[in-house]
Amino acid sequence: MPLKTTPETTAAVDAAISSRRSVRAFLPTPVPRSVVEDILQVAARAPSGTNTQPWQVHVLMGAPQQALSEEICAAYDDPLERTQHSEEYAYYPTEWRSPYIDRRRKVGWDLYSLLGIGKADKVRMHAQHRRNYQFFGAPVGLMFSIERVLQQGSWLDYGMFLQNIMVAARGRGLDTCPQAAFMQFHRIIARHLALPDSHMVVCGMSLGWADPEAIENTLLTEREPVAGFVRFLD
Ligand SMILES: Cc1cc2nc3c(=O)[nH]c(=O)nc-3n(C[C@H](O)[C@H](O)[C@H](O)COP(=O)(O)O)c2cc1C
Repeated sequence: MPLKTTPETTAAVDAAISSRRSVRAFLPTPVPRSVVEDILQVAARAPSGTNTQPWQVHVLMGAPQQALSEEICAAYDDPLERTQHSEEYAYYPTEWRSPYIDRRRKVGWDLYSLLGIGKADKVRMHAQHRRNYQFFGAPVGLMFSIERVLQQGSWLDYGMFLQNIMVAARGRGLDTCPQAAFMQFHRIIARHLALPDSHMVVCGMSLGWADPEAIENTLLTEREPVAGFVRFLD
């Protein structure tokens, strides 16, 4: 589809991308189902190898969202029960090294220090992490699954789809938080979604309007400048 490129279109696209942040406190204001459908429809324009479109989305609102949150929170709060749950796939490296570990620590401490959570305050850390499982108060919880038969390439495609959702949400004044935290409780999620064994949970995502009063939503994460991760061969 031709797109007339003007300074306004460039600015609008850049603003939708650059204004996306992981929001960790939402207003309870409902998001109309039609808006969620529009976002998912446009996001599905994401490319995928040979147009395989590997994404499957489960939209949770109201009672089903509440029921899932409650069961995961109960499992998370019970130290013994929690150990019975583990991720199905490795999102993070088993061996951390610089610069990744430094960046990981920095974003963690930046968030906790905004919230006034000290390094030894395990109770408040637990409570903050727990907010993941309440979708940070968002009225829409998205769960993503993929068929196990699909390979690494489809996970690349999936990432593009997820980013499209987050950018399309920005275009409508909405915010998101992609969430790997849910993966630990994939068995509970699979049961709530009645997922067949042939599918696995990819991650979750909160969607809604950001709470403008929440201090955690002022977190602005850093990025390397282009010179730090690019080399031109010319
Ligand atoms: C796939 C994925 C999973 C993530 N999982 C979580 C999560 O479980 N909880 C959370 O608070 N943030 C999560 N994040 C957000 C990252 O911490 C965040 O993207 C990163 O710190 C950069 O900040 P920004 O998104 O505000 O630019 C996740 C991000 C991605 C891409």
